[in-house]
Amino acid sequence: ENNSREQWGSKLGFVLAAAGSAVGLGNVWRFPFATGEHGGAAFLFLYLIAVVLIGYPLMVTEISLGRKSRKNPIGTYKNLAPDTPWWLVGGLGVITGFVLLSYYSVIAGWSLSYIFRSLGGFPEGIDAANIMFETHISGLLEPILYHLIFMVITVGVISAGVVKGIQKVVEMLMPVLAILLVAVVFRSVTLEGAREGISFLFRPDFSAVTAKTFLSVIGQSFFTLSLGMGAIITYGSYLSNKDDIPTSSIQIIGADTLLAIISGLAIFPAVFALGFDPGEGPGLVFVTLPAVFAEMPLGGIFGVLFFILLTIAALTSAISLLEVVVAYVIDEKNWPREKAALTVGGVIFLIGLPPILGYSVWSEATTFAGNILDTYDFIANSVMLPLGGALTSIFAGHALGSKNIVEEANKGATSVKIGNWVAPLLRYVIPISVLVVMLFGIYQTITGE
Ligand code: PHE
Ligand code: NA
Repeated sequence: ENNSREQWGSKLGFVLAAAGSAVGLGNVWRFPFATGEHGGAAFLFLYLIAVVLIGYPLMVTEISLGRKSRKNPIGTYKNLAPDTPWWLVGGLGVITGFVLLSYYSVIAGWSLSYIFRSLGGFPEGIDAANIMFETHISGLLEPILYHLIFMVITVGVISAGVVKGIQKVVEMLMPVLAILLVAVVFRSVTLEGAREGISFLFRPDFSAVTAKTFLSVIGQSFFTLSLGMGAIITYGSYLSNKDDIPTSSIQIIGADTLLAIISGLAIFPAVFALGFDPGEGPGLVFVTLPAVFAEMPLGGIFGVLFFILLTIAALTSAISLLEVVVAYVIDEKNWPREKAALTVGGVIFLIGLPPILGYSVWSEATTFAGNILDTYDFIANSVMLPLGGALTSIFAGHALGSKNIVEEANKGATSVKIGNWVAPLLRYVIPISVLVVMLFGIYQTITGE
C-alpha cells in the first residue's frame, strides 16, 4: 500500500548499511573485553556456535519480516498479525532503540573526544591513562558536549533519508573503517611480544567459562548482530523482492564476525606486548589501550586512527538505531522525516544524560548512580535484546509460521536457499535457550552472585 516507501539504491547499499549497523562498539569495544574476561578463544568458540544456531536464522527472519511488511517493527507485527497483541514485540524494539542509543551515544562521545585527546599525546602508564579516563567521564561539560555532537551527526544523517543519508554515509565510511583497522592491526601484530596476544585470542581457556559466560555470549550475539530490536527489520523494509536475503545475511554476519576477530587482533597483541592485563573489562579500550598507545612507537598517531575508527563504527550503528524509531514515527504518525529525526534524537539525547550525571554529579551520592550506564547496558543487552529476539523467533516459528519466513527469504535468492531446518530452530531451540539463559542471568544479577 505504501508505494512511496524508499528503497536502497543498490544491493550493495543494503548489505553495507546492515553491515554498518552490525559493526560497531559491539565489535571493537565489547567483543575484545568480553573475550578478555571469558577465556579468550573459549568465548570466541561459544560465540561462533551462537552465531550459527541463533544469529543466522534470526538475521534471515528479521530481514524477511521487514521486506514482507515494508514497515517499521510495530507496523510489521500489525501488518502480519492484525488484531493481536504481537505489535507489542515491535513496541519493545522501539523502546529498546531509545535505551540503547542513549548510552551508545555517550560511549561514542567518549570515543570522539579521545580522537582529540590522542592528538595531544597520551600520558605514560596505566595509572595516568586511568586518571585520563576518570577525568573525562567524571567531567560534566565534556561528555555532554560530545554526546550532543554525536547525536547531532546521527540526526543529520537520518534526516537526509535512506539513500541520500544512510546509504551515502555507509558507502563513504565503511571502506575508511576497513583501511584504518588494517593499519592498526599491522602496528599491533608487528610489536615485539605480540605473539602471546594472538595465541590468547585463538587458544581456548575453558576454565574461565562460567554460567555468566553464556549470558554474555547470548547478549553479545544479539547486540553485535543488531538483532532482537527491529533494526534489521527496519533496514529490510527498504529492500526489493529481487534482493537475495540468504546470501546477504551470510555477508552481514561474516563481516561482523570478521571485524570482531580483527578488532581482537588490533588490541590483544598490543596489550600483551606491553605487559597489560587483557581482563580489564569495559575499560579495556578507554583505559588500557591509551596506556598501550602511550608506550608504543608512533602511539599517538595510532591512537588517533584507532579512535576515528571506533567513532565511525559507532556512527554507522547509531544511525540504524535512530532509524528504527524514526521509521515508526514516519509510518504511524505521518511526521516528516526531519521533524521525526530531530524530535526523537532530542529525546534520546536527554535519556543519555542520567548515565553522564551518574558518573559526574551523583557518583558520590550512591554507588548505583555511578553505574547508571552499566544499568542501561544490562537492561538493554541482557534483558531487552534477548527477550525481543526470543519473541521474534516465537512469532516467526509459531504465529506466522516458519514456512512463510522460508518462502519470503527465498524470493530473489540465487545460490543459497533457506530450508525447513530453520523451523525447529525458530520454534524451540532459539526461544528456549535464549529465555533460559536470560532468566538465569537476571536471577544471578539480582541475587548478586
Ligand atoms: N550491532 C551494533 C554493535 O555491534 C549495536 C547495535 C545493536 C546496533 C542493536 C543496532 C541495533 O555495536
Ligand atoms: Na557488531
